[in-house]
Amino acid sequence: MVDDLPRAVLGFATGATPGPTYRALGTLVAAGEVDFTGVSVFLLDEYLGLGATDPRSYRATIRREAAGPLGVPDGAVFGPEADAADPQEACQRYEDQIHAAGGIDVLMLGIGRNGHVGFNEPGTPFNLRTHVTTLCDATRVDNARYFGSVADVPTYAITQGPATICDARRILLVATGAAKAPAIARALTGEVDEDCPASILRTHPEVRVLVDPDAAVGLGEHVRRVARLGEG
Ligand code: GLP
Repeated sequence: MVDDLPRAVLGFATGATPGPTYRALGTLVAAGEVDFTGVSVFLLDEYLGLGATDPRSYRATIRREAAGPLGVPDGAVFGPEADAADPQEACQRYEDQIHAAGGIDVLMLGIGRNGHVGFNEPGTPFNLRTHVTTLCDATRVDNARYFGSVADVPTYAITQGPATICDARRILLVATGAAKAPAIARALTGEVDEDCPASILRTHPEVRVLVDPDAAVGLGEHVRRVARLGEG
């Protein structure tokens, strides 16, 4: 893909799920097989109040674990300015930056146990663009491992909204592990509704979903049906 689009605009998620993908790409870069130097990277979300130099910020995490090893220059890594004096303005600026870059070509997503994508928690209106959001307790618990304790996890974040996410030309949703099975089953086989933010991806024409066997457990019959269609 990067060979096809040397100036691709990529959307990167944080969290544990995409780590192996970033590391595998880093191996290809180290071997000289792909070149990311012309690529730009847009973060999916960021904790409110954490500046880009805070090591716990998603901006610092993506630079350290993905963009840096891939050879994407720091100046080509964009994220919401979550420590801005006016977060609402920062949201609009981020939308403008994505637009000025020509939109996101490929957006990589993980999924929360409650079906969130980015930090769009259940109940987020599908038409929202980049916005300030309040994190669910379950999300703060899940992310406590990066902060030492739940109390230290920020309560608010800035996230690309469902409408921003769906503007990406292509989307890759990755889920691994049994803890994600209910969310994957709900997102892919339940109703498309705001109670399950990831379900909006079913309205997008270019989505690939990669799940390991544990995360696919709840898809049983559905996956078999798709496989049979593939054979036909
Ligand atoms: C966080 C991030 C999401 C991510 C989710 C799942 O809440 N904001 O973008 O998809 O966690 O994380 P993990 O991959 O660690 O399970």
